[in-house]
Amino acid sequence: MYVRNKRRDCDEIGVYSREYALPEKTTQEELEKLIDELNADEKISGILVQLPLPSHLDEKAVINRINPKKDVDAFHPSNVGKIMIGDYDLLPCTPAGVMELIEEAGTKVEGKKCVVVGRSNIVGKPQAMLLLHKNGTVTICHSKTKNLAEECRSADILVAAVGRAKLITADMVKPGATVIDVGMNRDENGKLCGDVDFENVKEVAGAITPVPGGVGPMTRAVLMRNTVTTAKLK
Ligand code: GUN
Repeated sequence: MYVRNKRRDCDEIGVYSREYALPEKTTQEELEKLIDELNADEKISGILVQLPLPSHLDEKAVINRINPKKDVDAFHPSNVGKIMIGDYDLLPCTPAGVMELIEEAGTKVEGKKCVVVGRSNIVGKPQAMLLLHKNGTVTICHSKTKNLAEECRSADILVAAVGRAKLITADMVKPGATVIDVGMNRDENGKLCGDVDFENVKEVAGAITPVPGGVGPMTRAVLMRNTVTTAKLK
């Protein structure tokens, strides 16, 4: 579904795209050879390897292989490092999309208490860094956090990115807080839902994103923006 939507976005804005749907038993060598070819291909300015990879493949080595100037996900260590020091061309798609949503909601980050739930390399860690760059006071919560509810309740801006259906309940949200839900889960009835109990939290929050239809489309929009950036870098 993710790949299909990304290709549709490319078509919509006039970006040439190619999809390589490789067999599950593809070897590390074969995959890296393809990345080398795409790195050298003048017609290609952006490369994205849809994660997760099958367990026999070394994800880190695959990401390292992508030319950082073609790294539209901004997952390569050199791009991650640039984000850390605030000197970047490319931002990871979901955290950058979340920043756009916060701004669009009219929420100023400067001086605010920001809580990010989840510490993944794809969302939690870079999200915290982007909020810090905007002068937020940032706490990262994770599975070993002692009092999650209390930490969340202290947040003016709450970003949930753990992948646990409806983990964030209304009693964990400060009235008027801006709540951004990065989760993409299935509830007990198999219905798509986020990490936030939307129906109840929307009564407390000042602004809140739905799932689906909140962060997801923004992630894809930033991916397209990154693709234009890589074309310019080239
Ligand atoms: N799998 C889950 N999220 C992502 C993402 O942002 N990019 C890629 N390439 N794979 C993912």
